[in-house]
Amino acid sequence: MLPKTIEWLCEIPLMRLLDQRKIPTSIEFRDCRTYEETAAAIEDMTVRGAPAIGVAAAYGVVLAAHIDHSKIEDAFLRLSATRPTAVNLFWSIERMRLVYTEYKESPELYQMLESEALKIEREDREINRKIGESGQKILPEIATVITHCNAGALATAGYGTALGVLRAAKEAGKQIKVYADETRPRLQGGRLTAFELCEDGFDVTVICDSMAPFLMSREKIDAVITGADRIALNGDTANKIGTYGLAVSAKRHNVPFYIAAPISTIDFNCPTGEMIPIEERDHDEVRMAGSEIFVYKKAKVWNPAFDVTPAELITGIITEAGIFEPSHIKELQE
Ligand code: MRU
Repeated sequence: MLPKTIEWLCEIPLMRLLDQRKIPTSIEFRDCRTYEETAAAIEDMTVRGAPAIGVAAAYGVVLAAHIDHSKIEDAFLRLSATRPTAVNLFWSIERMRLVYTEYKESPELYQMLESEALKIEREDREINRKIGESGQKILPEIATVITHCNAGALATAGYGTALGVLRAAKEAGKQIKVYADETRPRLQGGRLTAFELCEDGFDVTVICDSMAPFLMSREKIDAVITGADRIALNGDTANKIGTYGLAVSAKRHNVPFYIAAPISTIDFNCPTGEMIPIEERDHDEVRMAGSEIFVYKKAKVWNPAFDVTPAELITGIITEAGIFEPSHIKELQE
């Protein structure tokens, strides 16, 4: 069985995170007892993936409330400053803020914040099941799929978005072969997607990101399915760096390209992809493999963690409310 990405131990209280930086070499956990520790764990990618960081941030607010109610506002600020691209983080902090505003004078404040965080976690798992149910219908009985980064159980409260679609297809009796892009520079595909899908009995082949176009020219690929970190109102989608190139290749080879994401990943205040803030990370992620530096020291490095795939390259966005053409996601606004 897969280890849990996030576990809330209410009696202590603490949040136990699976340390995703160690997978697949070892299964280790990191305990967060404060909101500062939670923020550090999001920043250093102990926990990563848009829905998972949203859930972790919600528990970070609960940890702040447990220590000192006067620290809750600080927790909102600190947690919001951890990673800029995945909108689920801000969406989840906003849900916690609404509860805080309503109950800040009440003796039930801690209990109400904790119950909201638990609800965010539970809903994420339920939503992923629904994404899987609607998404699996796009796949034939025997299907070959390419995915990028990790949009699985490890990136969410469980089951996954893009990988949830694959899980649901397998549960429906379909035979699924998966190509996982290794996903330079942090290798979420090679480390995390390969780990969780192999542990679940999938047929998984890891490729370097640059191999995907050639693969599409040589083998019938039924679909590319990835997750998302933020979807703009016009359907432009930010996801892990390399997604855009994969979408261009898919278009070139007539392979349908799908995004699987909860509605909470749609930023209804963001008209187009140009407005999505893109996180730039430490250059050493590109310069180094493990402890070895392999980029020539005089060369500069650029390390955007995400890119934006234009809506016109996206066949459909798979959500808990069904599959939508990118130009129709506005209809999901409440
Ligand atoms: O930098 P990461 O590992 O947090 O990036 C994760 C991704 O880009 C995922 O594809 C995305 O968050 C969707 S996870 C369901």
